[in-house]
Amino acid sequence: MTRTILVTGGAGFIGSNFVHLLCAERPDWRIVNLDALTYAGNLENLTAVEERAGYAFVHGDITREEDVERAFATCEGEVQVVHFAAESHVDRSILSGMPFVQANVAGTQVMLDLSRKHGVARFVHVSTDEVYGSLGPTGYFTENTPLAPNSPYSASKSASDLLVRAAVHTHGFPGVITRCSNNYGPYQFPEKLIPLMIANAAEDKPLPIYGDGMYVRDWLYVQDHCEAILRVLEEGEDGEVYNVGGHNEYKNLEIVRLILRTLGKPESLITYVKDRPGHDRRYAIDASKIERELGWRPRFTFEQALPETVRWYQSHSLWLQRVRSGAYREYYRRQYGS
Ligand code: NAD
Ligand code: DAU
Repeated sequence: MTRTILVTGGAGFIGSNFVHLLCAERPDWRIVNLDALTYAGNLENLTAVEERAGYAFVHGDITREEDVERAFATCEGEVQVVHFAAESHVDRSILSGMPFVQANVAGTQVMLDLSRKHGVARFVHVSTDEVYGSLGPTGYFTENTPLAPNSPYSASKSASDLLVRAAVHTHGFPGVITRCSNNYGPYQFPEKLIPLMIANAAEDKPLPIYGDGMYVRDWLYVQDHCEAILRVLEEGEDGEVYNVGGHNEYKNLEIVRLILRTLGKPESLITYVKDRPGHDRRYAIDASKIERELGWRPRFTFEQALPETVRWYQSHSLWLQRVRSGAYREYYRRQYGS
């Protein structure tokens, strides 16, 4: 039977890596990519798959029913949804929360309603470890850790998780939730720590460290995350939550020093700036459930994948330059004419 994966937010960082993974690993599946192309959506991430048979891009907003209906009309056979589309940057949510409520909360409800109407076989909701709040120096987030979001971003993601939970409970909807820690790798928008630091260091610009730089994140290579999502899509249990993480905790300052060493740049570029309001001190994931129940494990080590990521940005300086200048947005107009 024909199968279509409806990916929302497939032009963003993780979504585009996921589309590349599907093209390589599941060549028979059709892919429909529904993306609004906000500042974070970049079709240049997908030029390699544009001409692939069975791939279709639908320019549309998940908060607009008519756009989501157009995406469903493009699907064939059994449909499964992988829902990435969201406003994703904590600092932007601190400046303005409403776009996060619109896209992450209202948008998810629209996706749930129309996915139910069209009888999708599975709905993977891609969430985040930030819904659990912040840890002290010890301990890990498990799937049973109470939700305690601290930023408008994580509050909106928590709300979307609860809407998925409600759809499962009320309607027997085939929803499943993943909660992953910080990702890094190719195609990440250079507002996030790792690509921002690589981009600034490459141009000998200051590297802005919030507060004391001792905040801890648990880093996972984006391909490992995408493989975990594929595993959950194929083998996860409806109604379950799966934490995804790499047992890979680093302080922000350690990461920035590693990047500088890899690029051969001086530590004098490090600049301490005003802290992020409400900044979560530490995230660390207990991913033993997905390891035990679905047999997923990260394949990439930080020692290998961080320098590779630095080299990816070096060898894609044009991509980076076009994102930094905004020129990547021209691509859509040239390619699709509006
Ligand atoms: P991103 O910001 O790079 O990409 C988001 C994509 O969604 C963009 O292509 C954007 O155009 C699209 N989008 C935004 N609003 C939309 C709307 N209303 N309609 C249609 N498309 C819309 O984000 P990312 O870092 O790739 O994150 C993807 C998902 O994974 C998000 O749901 C995020 O919460 C989650 N997540 C991210 C990380 C991380 O470290 N980046 C970790 C865990 C979970
Ligand atoms: O944990 C998963 C989350 O990881 C995802 O849900 C989010 O979508 C994703 O953006 C990411 O959130 P963070 O806030 O942890 O990522 P960010 O890259 O913005 O920041 C990582 C750490 O680096 C954090 O402690 C803040 C710090 N930082 C960040 C920036 C952009 C700085 O010190 N300086 C900076 O300029």
